[in-house]
Amino acid sequence: MCGIVAFTGTSPTVPVLLNGLRRLEYRGYDSAGLALQTGDGSLEIIKRAGKVAELEQILEETGKAHTSADDSGTKPALGEKDTPGAANTPFSQATTGIGHTRWATHGVPSEANAHPQHDCSGSIAVVHNGIIENYAILRAELQGRGHRFVSQTDTEVVAHLIEEEYAAAHEDLVLAVRATVARLSGSFALAVCHASEPGLLVVTRNDSPLVVGKTKTGAIAASDTPALIEYTREVYYLDDRDLAVLHENGTLHFFDPAGSAIVPTPVTIEWDLEDAERGGYPDFMLKEIHEQPRVVKDTIAGRYSAATGRISFEELALSPRELKHIERVIIVACGTSYHAGLIGRDLMETWARLPVETAVASEFRYRNPLVTPKTLVIAISQSGETADTLEAVKLARLAGAHVLAITNVVGSRITREANTVLYIKAHLEIAVAATKSFLAQVALLTLFALYLAQERGQLESGAVGEVYAAMEQLPRQIAGVLEDTASIISCASECGNAQTALFIGRGVGATICYEGALKLKEISYVHAEAFAAGEIKHGPIALINPEGLTDPQVQTPVVAMACKSATYDKMLSNIEEVLARGAKVIAVATAGDTRIAELTGHVIFIPEVPECLSPLVASVPLQLFARHIALMHGANVDQPRNLAKSVTVE
Ligand code: G6P
Repeated sequence: MCGIVAFTGTSPTVPVLLNGLRRLEYRGYDSAGLALQTGDGSLEIIKRAGKVAELEQILEETGKAHTSADDSGTKPALGEKDTPGAANTPFSQATTGIGHTRWATHGVPSEANAHPQHDCSGSIAVVHNGIIENYAILRAELQGRGHRFVSQTDTEVVAHLIEEEYAAAHEDLVLAVRATVARLSGSFALAVCHASEPGLLVVTRNDSPLVVGKTKTGAIAASDTPALIEYTREVYYLDDRDLAVLHENGTLHFFDPAGSAIVPTPVTIEWDLEDAERGGYPDFMLKEIHEQPRVVKDTIAGRYSAATGRISFEELALSPRELKHIERVIIVACGTSYHAGLIGRDLMETWARLPVETAVASEFRYRNPLVTPKTLVIAISQSGETADTLEAVKLARLAGAHVLAITNVVGSRITREANTVLYIKAHLEIAVAATKSFLAQVALLTLFALYLAQERGQLESGAVGEVYAAMEQLPRQIAGVLEDTASIISCASECGNAQTALFIGRGVGATICYEGALKLKEISYVHAEAFAAGEIKHGPIALINPEGLTDPQVQTPVVAMACKSATYDKMLSNIEEVLARGAKVIAVATAGDTRIAELTGHVIFIPEVPECLSPLVASVPLQLFARHIALMHGANVDQPRNLAKSVTVE
């Protein structure tokens, strides 16, 4: 969704802002803009509907671009006066500014609605992520007092409020922002600059992420760490309604909502710049798919002791006694994380013999769910910022449940809301369609299910050790799938013209299908639905085009999970049923299976793994299958239309 970058220092800010905005592109957006202090008490705002590249082009064409993103510490020539913010500083040399990528909520994507937004005088510029829920009342009040609005955004009220508060606070921007924030409800991350406050930026947040750091030549703030990883690995996370003041000499001051100075603890970003780069791959999605052997290895590493035969989760803030007294587990999540939750549910129920439910987070809080202090709520979110999941977490906490968060992002909101946090080791995931984070979530949930069973006395250490030993083989097996993709590509090529595709499976195979169908629809825009194979005869089988019986060109593709499992024979019957109605069956099957090859010529073989671990291998060809079809359609696999990487609105 929206992205914020703000920089003040002694080096040009344009390259830092543009570079940061490019790094945030993966989150999904529809317009972009910058506001810079260009001296003589003025701000210059340049914004456009469209991509950051279009904004850059305008800057190039108007001579406002600065070509280097180097934050090397060398002070540039600033023209006649070399004081940042001094009179007549060219845009390209300005050293204080804010930038934004907008994902439209209030008002269409347009230049007027793009951020930065400004006050009546054009002296105050604001960029904002989130939604100001009381904006309509504030806007009416401000208009009543004579303020002129030029956009349809909720954000614009912030600029006008600061304008009023700045005058009331005797031109103290920090006080003005604090007073403004006190009047806002909803979610926001804000960065503010004022034409008459050279070298100064004020940032704040509520229910929307914001990180701050020092660089070699100044201070930087951003809504997400990829925007600042190039300049610093040590960052500060703000708590709700805290304020940070960034000075051009790199000094940072932090204040709580009451205005008292605070000293937050810095957090070191664990991943590298390499994670934010494509590293020779044509797209991030492919790179991230190929990282999966490493991700699974890192996520399971160190969790099992061969000496004791036990799994450990030392960070869990639940005693063995409390674990024994849990009566129920509810997993809440959205999208791909929800699918990981479905797999976790089956494993926990099977091994720990506990009732487990997986709920779509956006529905959970509206159905008056049964949550008690004896419920363990597991909230899964790659980003840790998904609003629906966070709301479910809040509800669970209010009901007295212990909330265990599984996330990929250190310092994300979910890590502050939950009682316990378990991190997957996926590192930064850039492609909107989740791949490596899904495998990491499933790997962690598998271990956690084993742990729960072990602690509740439902699984012997021998059985735990056996599963763990099989898990240790997974990185090699996943790598095997990635090395030999010919059958995946050829099956995908068979489906290039399809308007719709069905995915069928049984047991965990059905869940793998839900995720496979989601991948296909989100990146290729081909309609795809997944069904429990036993259910197709109750309706979905009607979707198969009977003309496929005589014309292979119009056959409806049916992707069938047909790996060796307890329901293998039944699955073969379901495959026969769809073949008999003219479907083109793409089967994912266990290496060495000869029966499947008698039914269809389109088979993707994967290594044999225990059924409980099959999602960790069988999901991989479906990711590549979806990607290949998307590429055949000319789609941007990293940034699919209409989607955002982290969805911070409900
Ligand atoms: C968005 C993304 C999905 C993701 C879902 C949940 O819709 O496009 O890929 O699965 O959010 O995200 P989370 O960060 O909570 O796992």
